[in-house]
Amino acid sequence: HFHLFKQHALVFHFHPISGVETSSPPAAMEGYLNLVAVVSSLACLITLLFIRKLSPARRTLNLPPSPTALPVIGHLHLLGPSPHRALHKVSTRLGSVIHLRLGAVPCVVASGAGAAKEFLRTHDLSFSDRVRSKVTDCLNYGAAGGFIFAPYGDHWRRMRKLCVSELLGGSTLEQLRSIRREEVGRLFQTLNDKAEKRQEVDVGAELVKLTSNVILRMVMGKGCFGTDGEALQVKKLMEDASELMGKFNLADFLGFCKNLDLQGFQKRAEDVQRRFDGMMEGIIEEREDLRRRKKETACDGDHALVRKDLLDMLLDISQVEEGADKKLTREDVKIFLRDIFAGGTDNAAVTMEWVLAELINHPAILEKARGEIDSVVGDARMVEESDIPSLPFLQAVVKETMRLHPAAPLLTRHSSGPCRVMGYDFPAKTMLLVNLWAIGRDPDQWEDPLEFRPERF
Ligand code: HEM
Repeated sequence: HFHLFKQHALVFHFHPISGVETSSPPAAMEGYLNLVAVVSSLACLITLLFIRKLSPARRTLNLPPSPTALPVIGHLHLLGPSPHRALHKVSTRLGSVIHLRLGAVPCVVASGAGAAKEFLRTHDLSFSDRVRSKVTDCLNYGAAGGFIFAPYGDHWRRMRKLCVSELLGGSTLEQLRSIRREEVGRLFQTLNDKAEKRQEVDVGAELVKLTSNVILRMVMGKGCFGTDGEALQVKKLMEDASELMGKFNLADFLGFCKNLDLQGFQKRAEDVQRRFDGMMEGIIEEREDLRRRKKETACDGDHALVRKDLLDMLLDISQVEEGADKKLTREDVKIFLRDIFAGGTDNAAVTMEWVLAELINHPAILEKARGEIDSVVGDARMVEESDIPSLPFLQAVVKETMRLHPAAPLLTRHSSGPCRVMGYDFPAKTMLLVNLWAIGRDPDQWEDPLEFRPERF
């Protein structure tokens, strides 16, 4: 899941401790004992079925080391609220490749740079699909649509090529640079105003606002500041979708829950999807109408002067006649816009928040970064994107931050068929988790891995 297992900077969650009942009426106690008996019998039965399932073929597989599993849930209980930290702990004990069973899903965790390279480079074709779930399928108009969750194949390759060469290519980014400059200016204005009034600033929230505005304006020409209610609604629906994609859904892991929506995620996903689709349909129709009117009134050459956002570019591409199977569909356009929002907002905001946190905690490094900016940019203007190549220390600060605080600490994939990697056997549909967080802290790769030391880059 793209957003699954995301770590947030400076955010702490407090869980209220639920009250414990100290006395129960006798009838309720009898009911409770009956329930325990039924549940225990069921657990025994399911355990027996599992033991049978683990027979001959499975036992001959050469699997990597694995911690002790519980019946039915396997190793699900090990994950806890920060799976990347929990898995790091297990891997320091058992090695850089471990095998888990998450409910009914076989899983391999790679926690070292060498192991990650084996899975993602040497055996990239076996592990090239992202992990889909019931919720991602629902949010992506069935199984095969979209970009981030599209299975590896022609459609995914085409979307990626479009992304690299056109939609997020150098000339598009250059064309949309003024949007980013304006939004950064707006952030500084807010910080200045609040500082003058000696008001508190929620820096994390301001950074999310910055990245959301940048992406929404680059994608569909609408920012969610001020009074643009429609853009705010789009942002909310995209955030709801991202949140749902990151939920741990029992239906994906426990076979007997497959068709039970016990946590209500499926119902919520269907609702979000219905509202998202309606809203995007409205936005696209409005844009098509505008494009038609512009075309009717435009003089020759006018269109070359108009700044196009990604929606315009996608509509241009989807109008190009190609074989019916190759044509970019309406759904492709909608999901692509959401994928860019999902990929481009939280990751960037969380990374910037960690950069600030590390700089505040390391005043000498902050001074050095400030000195570099003063000498390259001076104090008469703001830093521009074009200054970045001349700011190697600032770049090192960002790299060092990403090493210690990767915004997506666990990459997920699953195997398309049975495969053999590093001498181990993996059945088809094995989930792969690459623990970027553990790789960034591996003492075999990094000297004093827990120290924030940008000079190492
Ligand atoms: C500091 C900022 C960012 C970080 C840390 C980050 C992190 C990542 C990571 C780790 C992946 C790989 C996930 C995987 O392999 O499963 C990824 C993929 C992706 N990111 Fe980012 N990202 C950032 C900014 C952005 C921005 C600004 C955009 C869009 C404007 C974006 C769009 C995407 C897309 C579309 C993918 C999927 C690519 C594919 O399937 O080939 N990201 N990002």
